[in-house]
This record gives sequence, structure tokens and C-alpha cells, in this order.
Amino acid sequence: MNKILYITSEAYPLIKTGGLADVSGSLPRALQLLKQDVRLLLPYYPQVQQQAGKVKLIDEQEHYGHQVRVLETRLPGSRVTVWLVDCPAAFDRPGNPYVDTDGNPWSDNAFRFALFSQVAVQLALGKGHPAWQPDVVHCNDWQSALIPALLSQHEQRPGSVFTIHNLAYQGLFNYQAFIDLGLPDTLWGMNGLEFHKQLSFIKGGLIYADRINTVSPGYAIEIQQPEFGYGLDGLLKHRQDRVSGIINGIETKIWNPGTDPYLEHNYNYRTLAHKSQNKTSLQAELGLPVDADVPMLGMISRLVEQKGVDVILDSLSTLLQWPLQIVILGSGDKTYESQLTQWAEQHPDKLKVIIGYDEALSHRIEAAADIYLMPSKFEPCGLNQLYSLHYGTIPVVRNVGGLADTIVNATQETLADNTANGFYVKDNTPQALLETLEKALTIYHKKDESWHRLQHTAMQHDYSWKTSAEKYIQLYQQAMLDKSRGQSS
Ligand code: ADP
Ligand code: GLC
Repeated sequence: MNKILYITSEAYPLIKTGGLADVSGSLPRALQLLKQDVRLLLPYYPQVQQQAGKVKLIDEQEHYGHQVRVLETRLPGSRVTVWLVDCPAAFDRPGNPYVDTDGNPWSDNAFRFALFSQVAVQLALGKGHPAWQPDVVHCNDWQSALIPALLSQHEQRPGSVFTIHNLAYQGLFNYQAFIDLGLPDTLWGMNGLEFHKQLSFIKGGLIYADRINTVSPGYAIEIQQPEFGYGLDGLLKHRQDRVSGIINGIETKIWNPGTDPYLEHNYNYRTLAHKSQNKTSLQAELGLPVDADVPMLGMISRLVEQKGVDVILDSLSTLLQWPLQIVILGSGDKTYESQLTQWAEQHPDKLKVIIGYDEALSHRIEAAADIYLMPSKFEPCGLNQLYSLHYGTIPVVRNVGGLADTIVNATQETLADNTANGFYVKDNTPQALLETLEKALTIYHKKDESWHRLQHTAMQHDYSWKTSAEKYIQLYQQAMLDKSRGQSS
């Protein structure tokens, strides 16, 4: 049994802004089922205060002139122990974990996540909670990437794994932040935390972690190339023997059309006929014309460039002339939000845009839609295409990263041998998206066996965490071995 400290800035159901929360809320449970001793470390945001049950004080520390308490609770609906970093000056504020209510990054993010990392380091060294020192720390994204760098200063450190969920977010700050945070001078420089004269949190993970992984094998290769590397491809290539990809799983207890409590009409692949009742219910709920036969396209997303929102916007003038309905739930970039809202106001019978974050509605859209739209420019893994497959909602995706790893494009051959489960958009252009949608809708409208076969293939695949969690255990063991051989950087 390994002792694993899993460190993350969000975990469902305590706090969620995107897929990182889904992974952090489900991988630790899967690890626990595989007999691992896993504890999750998370900031104590107001949302967490509301969602968490009873908490108990387990440690007190002082960092950057602030008293910090470490509280213990459980991940709701599981037996996973959660440790919460309670520092009101850093975390007790409205807005989301990373941005204020206007969508701007918190100006003190460097301080907030450096403080979080300092607490993690104490716990990782067994100083915060002497009865429990981890064998390995598992850090996720830039918010916890400083930890491997800070731990590199200590002989008695555990092994470290750093997971890249999204290389586009790097935690870049000016050099003054490096000074203000009192980080050791030895960590500065091109072979340290410096990135073009700035402080880069993510380099802490990329340079100092024993093992680096990302959330699909495809993205692990892509990020070693300039097109997807955001300036870090050279470094990742240099460490390629330590870089791997493990595809995300899904929490099938939460995402299961057969038992999903958010659905009016539960179904599985044997009772697929009930799926369209979810469509008519959603049409009624959203004020769209109620029609079980009209194809519905769904999308639930952060509205950011990554997700190909611009390509969708540029396709709408054509797309909205076709006999279909589109439902988009999302929030993010204010320009995208207002452009989508304007299109929806002009086409109330075809397009519904719901700006905001709504967990329940996201489940109902997954169940109601026939086609899931995900023309991402890059996608480290992507969870919505996996939820869609499980709900018999056929994904239309760009063939990049985790999307290419999980979706099998429908061609004559793959349809014939029952391996197809979706459609590829081959380019980041509205023409390519429209072409693919036309192809998908032609098959949908035929109303013959082909569409059902696509749905059956999609629904019968096992997307649960077990296999990937086993791969993480192997990765932890490799990290511990690297550490004991003194081969980290
Ligand atoms: P990313 O992490 O890049 O945002 P993923 O596909 O990995 O993309 O995961 C996104 C997760 O966030 C999914 O669980 C999705 O349903 C959820 N999500 C995104 N936007 C919203 C929203 N506006 N309301 C509810 N859930 C959302
Ligand atoms: C990131 C990625 C997404 C991935 C998620 C969880 O936010 O954008 O592709 O599924 O992390 O790993």
C-alpha cells in the first residue's frame, strides 16, 4: 500500500470549475478501492466550507506572516480523507478559485498558491501531521507545481508526480513575485523556475518532479511539439523519458444514464428508446419547440478559445438554417458569452444559450442531445466526450489530444466493424465543422441501424477509472524509485 498525498486546487463535489475537479474527485476514490492510502489536499474556499461536512483541526502552521490551519474532513459520498488549507486571507473570498467575480485573475494568485504549496511541503515532509508521511506527492497543474521544486531542497522528501491537465495555464508572474515569496535563489534560472525572465510555477513540476504525466497519451506527444507546447515543448522533449500519458476515467456512479438522479427518464443501452424523452423534457424546460425527431446538438463548456467557440460562432449562420436545435451551457470569455447570447436571441426556436454554471442542467443536456459538439483546438483529455459516449450522445470532435485517443471516427470501415463512436472534424475551420456535422446528421436522419450502432458502441465501452488508476499506481512506484536513485532533475 502506498501513501499518496494528492494535491489539487479543485475536487468535485467540494469545488469545481472544470475537468480537474472531476478527476480529483474520482481518481482518489479509485485509488482507495485499489487499497492505496490516499489523502487529498485542497484550499478551504467558501464553496468548500458550504459543501464539506464536519471538519476537525489537525495542524497549525505559519507562512508569509499568516496563521494557517489544516482541517480534516471526508470527500462527500466517499471514505477519502481530505485535508483543507484554511487561510482566510488567501482563500475566503467570493468568485472562483482563480478569478474574481469579473473574471480577472486574483492579483495575489502567486501568494495564494505559494502558501498552499508551502503547507503541502510541510505535510509531505511529515512535519504537519507526524503520524503520516506520504511516499509520493501527486501534484496537479500550476497551482501545485511549486511543490516538487520546494521539495527538491529536502533530503527526506517523498517521490513526486506532476500531472499536466492543461499546459496553456502556467502560473506566470513577474520576478518580484519570486523575491516576495522568498523562494531559494538556487531555484532561479533557465534550469529552474525562470521562463523568459518571469517566474513560472508550472516549471516547478516540469523540472523537479520525478515523473511527469498528462491526461492522454496523445497530448503527451503533442506537448513535445511547438504547436501545442506553449514554449515548454523543448523542456518536455528533454525530459521525455519521464513523460507519459494516462487517459482520464469517469466516475460512473455520478455519470450514469441508468441511475442519474438529475434525469427525468433514466435509460441504458437496452432502453435507449427512453433517451428521446429526455430531449422532449429539456425542450419543454428551455422553451424550445417540442419535437422528439429534430436532432439536438449539445455543448457544456468553459467558453474559451481552447474549446473552438470561435469556429462554432462562425458556423452558426449556416447551421441555424438546418433543421436542428442547439443547446449550449457555459461561461467564460465575456465576448463569446455575449455573441452566443445575441445569436440565441435572434433564433429562439433553434438555439438556447445558458450562461452560467449548472451541474444538474449539464447532466440533462448530456442525456437529451443526440450529438455532442467539441471542436476543441487542443484537448488534454476532455471529459464531456466520455460522458457523452456513456449517455449515447455521439461526439463530434477535433481529432486532437484525448479526443483523438477516445473517439473512433465513423468511416465505412469503422461503421461496418462496429468500432465507430463519433466523428472527426479535421480542421479548425467552420467549413470543416459544417462538413462533419452534415455527415453526422445524414446518418442520424436515415433513422436506420447505423446511428443505433454508433450509440451502442459508445455506451458499451468501459470508461471507468480502474485501468487508469492502476497505471497511476505504477507511475507512483516509478517516481519513488527515481527518487531513491537520486535521479529527479
Ligand atoms: P475542461 O477541464 O478543459 O473544462 P473537461 O471536458 O475535461 O474540460 O471537463 C469539463 C467539466 O466541467 C465537465 O464535467 C463539464 O460538464 C463541466 N462544465 C463545464 N462548464 C460547465 C457549466 N457551465 N456548467 C456545468 N458544468 C460545466
Ligand atoms: C483540463 C483539460 C481537459 C481535461 C481536464 C481534466 O482542464 O482542458 O482536457 O479533461 O483538465 O484532466
